[in-house]
Amino acid sequence: MKIGILTGGGDCPGLNPVIRAVVRKAIVDKHEITGIKDGWRGMIENNSMPLNLDNTSGILHIGGTILGTSRTNPYKKEGGVEKVKQTFKALKLGALIAVGGEDTLGVASRLVKEGLNVVGVPKTIDNDLDQTEYTFGFDTAVNIAMEAIDRLHTTACSHHRVLVVEIMGRHAGWIALHAGIAGGADSILLPEKPIDLNKVCDVIKARRERGKLFSIIAVAEGAQFQESDLVLQKKELDAFGHVLLGGIGATLAKKIEEKTKFETRYVVLGHTQRGGSPTAFDRVLGTRFGVKAVELVNEKKFGYMVCLQANKIVGVPIEKAVAKLKIVEDREWFDLIKVICV
Ligand code: F6P
Repeated sequence: MKIGILTGGGDCPGLNPVIRAVVRKAIVDKHEITGIKDGWRGMIENNSMPLNLDNTSGILHIGGTILGTSRTNPYKKEGGVEKVKQTFKALKLGALIAVGGEDTLGVASRLVKEGLNVVGVPKTIDNDLDQTEYTFGFDTAVNIAMEAIDRLHTTACSHHRVLVVEIMGRHAGWIALHAGIAGGADSILLPEKPIDLNKVCDVIKARRERGKLFSIIAVAEGAQFQESDLVLQKKELDAFGHVLLGGIGATLAKKIEEKTKFETRYVVLGHTQRGGSPTAFDRVLGTRFGVKAVELVNEKKFGYMVCLQANKIVGVPIEKAVAKLKIVEDREWFDLIKVICV
């Protein structure tokens, strides 16, 4: 069979390990494999490249995606879906592996209903895809953010400052939660709970009274003071209906400084969290996902995506995974924050 693979949505470390594993497993199983360039845009524009052992060797440790990516939504482009179907036919694909987050996989799920043979691989630094315990990219992003918090400790401590770190994750607080815990942040503020400014300032003041003259505040980009109060970089929606978040770090730093009178600075980690080499965890997860994706194709489980459940790689219907966002809900996390952020 000829199998296509595309990577869509925001890039993240671990995509190349998936591509490499898919190619190796496809070759073992006697399939031909083609890379579609730039996500769904490549399917609309019939832009592809053959993949083989040579051009997918030496990419395991490299971040990003050798196939390129885009946030193109065929359902928002005039004739987009028809063009995707034409490319599927023109390339003589027996199946397509779509590697992406809720947007890319949402398109995959709809295309399956239109008769295309698509399987999914979940990817996102945000770790907000339901059904899978982890997506690759998340662990790397957490480690980058943790290291940034470690570095900020020394400068915050030297200057006796408050440092606010704005961390990605959209409407889920997973990266801020894990990086905040691992980095020892003094406040961890998530989209899932409104920011209580008095509480944040009380912690900072209590630390001062104990002789700790600095504080580190980890804030998720989607955190808000009250509901429907997101701080945005851009109001316009993208092709999948998302706003571009960003700016809560600056807003919060200003409020903290006004209220406590302590010198406060902010840092926006932004896309550095998506850059660089994947961690060992993300390389292994990406590799396991890639191999399983070809197995799903072999079993003709179209409309399914691979996922991690109880440390086993299994298949679940994509529809189930994109039905709702996986956010930080478990009480345990909030209780833990209460205990350690004092
Ligand atoms: O979904 C991944 C992510 O990095 C989010 O954490 C962030 O809000 C968004 O993408 C940024 O989007 P863009 O890459 O379009 O700037």
